[in-house]
Amino acid sequence: MRLLPVCAALLAVLVAPALAQHIPGYNYDEAKIPPYTLLDPLTAADGKPVNTAAAWWQQRRPEIVHLFEENVFGVTPANAKVPLRAKLIETDPHALGGLAIRKQIDLYFTTKGADGPKMRMLLYLPARAKGRVPVVLGLNFGGNQTVVNDPGIQPTKIWVKPKPSLVLQQVAPDEKTRGSQTEEWQVEKVLSRGYGLATIYYGDLEPDFKDASQYSIRQLFAPSNAPDSWGAIGAWAWGLSRAIDYLETDKQVDAKRIAVTGHSRLAKVADWAAAQDPRIAAVLSTESGKGGQSIQRRGLGESVYHLQHSFPYWFCPNYARWVGHDQEIPADGNLLLSLIAPRPLYVASAVGDEWSDPKGEFLSSVSASRVYQLLGRHGLPTDTMPPVDQPINSPAANVAYHVRSGIHDVTAFDWDQYLNFLDIHFRRLTRP
Ligand code: GCU
Repeated sequence: MRLLPVCAALLAVLVAPALAQHIPGYNYDEAKIPPYTLLDPLTAADGKPVNTAAAWWQQRRPEIVHLFEENVFGVTPANAKVPLRAKLIETDPHALGGLAIRKQIDLYFTTKGADGPKMRMLLYLPARAKGRVPVVLGLNFGGNQTVVNDPGIQPTKIWVKPKPSLVLQQVAPDEKTRGSQTEEWQVEKVLSRGYGLATIYYGDLEPDFKDASQYSIRQLFAPSNAPDSWGAIGAWAWGLSRAIDYLETDKQVDAKRIAVTGHSRLAKVADWAAAQDPRIAAVLSTESGKGGQSIQRRGLGESVYHLQHSFPYWFCPNYARWVGHDQEIPADGNLLLSLIAPRPLYVASAVGDEWSDPKGEFLSSVSASRVYQLLGRHGLPTDTMPPVDQPINSPAANVAYHVRSGIHDVTAFDWDQYLNFLDIHFRRLTRP
């Protein structure tokens, strides 16, 4: 459930009108969308049409990456590769009742030894697989132990700000959280369809709290207060790329078939990671909403104000410039999705997730599809939003979309569509 709008609405009612007037309302009404111009992925900054693949790769794509670096997520430092060291902590060839091989791997970012900063990957591979397997990779919100009820998962500490002190600290997660996200991750379904699943707690990279950057892997790099310095989304996306550094070395993984996934803020992360890392072969993006796959310029649902007010640390300092100027933001969701072209991209919305603006997510996918066409692939075959629960997933197209019934969440329905989509596209790639 979306707590932010509920809390902000309560605040607006309870506090003095003088304060309330600084909290902009939420527009959920199509009729009230102000006039806006959709940014064109295929018009370069010099106003010229981009009509060849070469112009896309050499001119327009780098321009769009730069727009996101400068205005939204910030720049990932150029020296951002680190001497990754993998330490296998535990493995079980008969995990989940014999369905999976489980590995838990600590990935250290420095050569400093056991105390160095690291992230813990939980990796499941289908036990019956012969040869290398494709893997779905995503960050999780509550710790690795949440994704499935497996007593073999060793929980690592999670970040909390408990009441009354509200001091940020790392604690062992409650045992009750084991398997609490089973529905959202569908690990057994993924494995039985022949895919591996790799996941990492996002707090290993940076705690998701204001003023927590001292605990971020961003500290591994030269500190910067530059207006385009990276925020937490950049740091989390960086973690996905380091996870791929490891997966490329694992002989049981088919590193040419790595799909990234994520929900909500962690789907913004998956989108941005894929924009930067060409090794990501496919993207399954669930409700990444504003600041992700939706169209900010539509002025429906979450605004830059709301994002900046609640989560300023997700973005670069320059992002604050666009507060109150949603219609002028120079890097919007359709441009972000266009950076994933020509790789297979599945965009998912939920009808009850108005905060993300499902129609904005669909229109973004339609617009990005033009880049797929330019690059010789089919994008979405229609510009008409499909009815609820009727996915557009044409075997010929590299872009798929659905709006599911229900609220902001990831469900078995989403996973069924994702796995059908991967079955089509990953089968097409020739084996390494
Ligand atoms: C908040 C935020 C969204 C984000 C979501 C989530 O609702 O406003 O932008 O996607 O959290 O990550 O669940």
